[in-house]
Amino acid sequence: MDTSGKAITCRAAIAWATNSPLSIEEVQVEPPKAGEVRIKMLSTGICGTDEHVLKGELLMKFPLIPGHEGAGIVESVGNGVTSVEPGDKVLTLIIPQCRECSSCLNPQGNCCEKQDILPCTGLMVDGTSRFTFKGKRIYHSFRTSTWTEYTVVPEFAVAKIDAAAPMDKVCLISCELPTGYGAAVNSGKVTPGSTCVIFGLGGVGSAIIMGCKASGASRIIGVDINEEKFPKARELGVTDCLNPQKLKKPVQDVVVEMTGAGVDFAFEAIGLTDTMIAAWNSCHKSYGVCLIVGLAPAQTQLSLDAPVIVTGRTLKGVCLGDYKTRDCIPQLVTDYLQKKINIDPVITHQLPFDKLHEALELFHAGKTIRCVLLFQGQK
Ligand code: APR
Ligand code: ZN
Repeated sequence: MDTSGKAITCRAAIAWATNSPLSIEEVQVEPPKAGEVRIKMLSTGICGTDEHVLKGELLMKFPLIPGHEGAGIVESVGNGVTSVEPGDKVLTLIIPQCRECSSCLNPQGNCCEKQDILPCTGLMVDGTSRFTFKGKRIYHSFRTSTWTEYTVVPEFAVAKIDAAAPMDKVCLISCELPTGYGAAVNSGKVTPGSTCVIFGLGGVGSAIIMGCKASGASRIIGVDINEEKFPKARELGVTDCLNPQKLKKPVQDVVVEMTGAGVDFAFEAIGLTDTMIAAWNSCHKSYGVCLIVGLAPAQTQLSLDAPVIVTGRTLKGVCLGDYKTRDCIPQLVTDYLQKKINIDPVITHQLPFDKLHEALELFHAGKTIRCVLLFQGQK
């Protein structure tokens, strides 16, 4: 049946308010307007950023359809769309690439001004939503909203990928893999023989481990309060695991002692200000680089010991691994197909979309690295 130009009724997860249960409902998904793409979702991840949304740590408008790590097939396109066509395999991009804004035009920048995270409008660029439930407007999250059978995304937030990509897995190459792997290889430029510490050994932290390992780091210290994350971290390349709750001293003091004078590279992949400060204080005073990958809650502040800043270490924010997303993410998918990088070890669970609640329970219980939700028709 040709659905182009018509609203589609399908199932989508709606988060009604912060910290309250989601429900899977029948929603209407409007056709894409000019410059937009409607996508049939095939798989989606559950990322720490989605958890920040559900807990109300970002200033988002509810009710909304969560999700941003998505893989799907283009169902139809709006006027003027040239980079994709119906039938193409695509990933949704939480950090888009409009190729027109100051970030996109600068060779160093990648945090496109068309992103809808800081701040979030919950709407498409024209200020309207493509989702309704019983006639009531439902907001988008990050202009991606992937916890739904169909979504509408701006063309600049869509990456066309290799037709051979396994769609039950590559959703993680839309955010988790590049965010962590890129933080190590692009943003940090981790050097062979270096020492690293990674705070948070979830999905993003796991991808950071892979990046540090691929860069030839000699010592990779993993920090997490959930020791169930340690075996996988070790498998990926962590050499020492620390649980801050079991240490007699602050974890940053232990890291400095273990490495003599502090690490070359420290990564924060949790999204808490305390662990950001611990990461900063784990760095070597004069040449350590502290990379903030986690997203801290809205309106929080970092308090650093100001005189110490002058000694020379670097504090660097990392947005999606510094990749210009539409240019680079298709290549990462190809690299995965060519076995140059591997996302398989971080996929600990795959469940049908209908089991979203079970997936969220596993996530909250700390049992998953990444759970991928699969939609009907995915192959
Ligand atoms: N100290 C150490 N580890 C912690 C702490 C803490 N205080 N609090 C939570 N953790 C651990 C969790 O046990 C978990 O293993 O941090 C990890 C977070 O992993 P995920 O929940 O899988 O989140 P992830 O998707 O990896 O995202 C991490 O990166 O991109 C950002 O917005 C994202 O801020 C989020 C961060
Ligand atoms: Zn841009």
